[in-house]
Amino acid sequence: METSTDMLLTKNDPIGKSTGTREGGPEWSIGGFGRQIPIVKKLVPGDVTQWVAAAYKAAISGVLGGNLASALLIRRPRAVVEYWQNCLFVWRMVAGQGLPQRQLHEILPVEDSVNLNILPTTGHFVLWDASFAKDVLYLALICRVLQPRTVFEIGTLYGYTALLFALNSPPDATVYTLDLPPDADFALRTTISDVTTRVAHHRAERLLFDGHSQESKIRPLQGDSALFDFSPWKENIDLFFIDGSHSYDYVRSDTERALHCCRPASVIVWHDYGRWGVNGVSKYLHELSRRYPQLCRLPGSSLAVLQL
Ligand SMILES: C[S@@+](CC[C@H](N)C(=O)[O-])C[C@H]1O[C@@H](n2cnc3c(N)ncnc32)[C@H](O)[C@@H]1O
Repeated sequence: METSTDMLLTKNDPIGKSTGTREGGPEWSIGGFGRQIPIVKKLVPGDVTQWVAAAYKAAISGVLGGNLASALLIRRPRAVVEYWQNCLFVWRMVAGQGLPQRQLHEILPVEDSVNLNILPTTGHFVLWDASFAKDVLYLALICRVLQPRTVFEIGTLYGYTALLFALNSPPDATVYTLDLPPDADFALRTTISDVTTRVAHHRAERLLFDGHSQESKIRPLQGDSALFDFSPWKENIDLFFIDGSHSYDYVRSDTERALHCCRPASVIVWHDYGRWGVNGVSKYLHELSRRYPQLCRLPGSSLAVLQL
């Protein structure tokens, strides 16, 4: 098993400073995907609509997912809301709501035994949330089984999943990972939690793959996914991972771009499907499943998977 580097520190060091070059195609090519992308709505700190939406979702979560155990967390209001939302996340799975749940071996040809390279317990993926650990296992497994030559990820954050893909793909594979430039605003409507993670990304002193033995396989890119020119990757991606902004508008836009980059037998994976809260992933994927009935969820995880 390979080990990751030290836990990330935060300070005012914009992405790119610590590693120098960030490669990629044009970063701000409006219309580079073949059409003009409208600026729908930017999120500003005082955007009342988004805060009202968050408060509304929190209240509904309490009504539907609240129970006596949550009363014991009353001194930690944020933990209470997260607990409610996790109760509902699990409830949806147990109740069989939403996308059909399929085992990975029903989707991809998984052998009897597969060796995975998993990162040690650093990073946000191994917090108390039960599904994150399964998400990591599935992502490594998908990568190992698919053996992609080219992976594209929207949403680098600290580089955890980019490194996971690098660790589990063939030696000559390339992992592209796209994140927002430091000074960029969101082109489309987004959510409060997306604003927070963007700040976390830009405060990271270094990414997990910086200086790692797998670093040469990873190509960090900068740009807003709604404006980024994906044409160099047209029909060239084997595995596409969507984990950028979680608003409906962004998930729809990112999915259209992923479909543009993929070809028959390519796999698209979405993170944070089924999560309760300010999250447009589920809403959009339920619509998409009418177009792609094979779209499904991996049991116990927040991953939705589509093989074309
Ligand atoms: C949930 S985190 C990604 C986590 C990462 N995949 C990992 O597991 O380590 C979301 C990331 O997407 C980035 N992001 C949000 N909106 C984006 C956009 N429109 N274009 C590119 N990146 C975006 C944020 O800056 C943040 O770093």
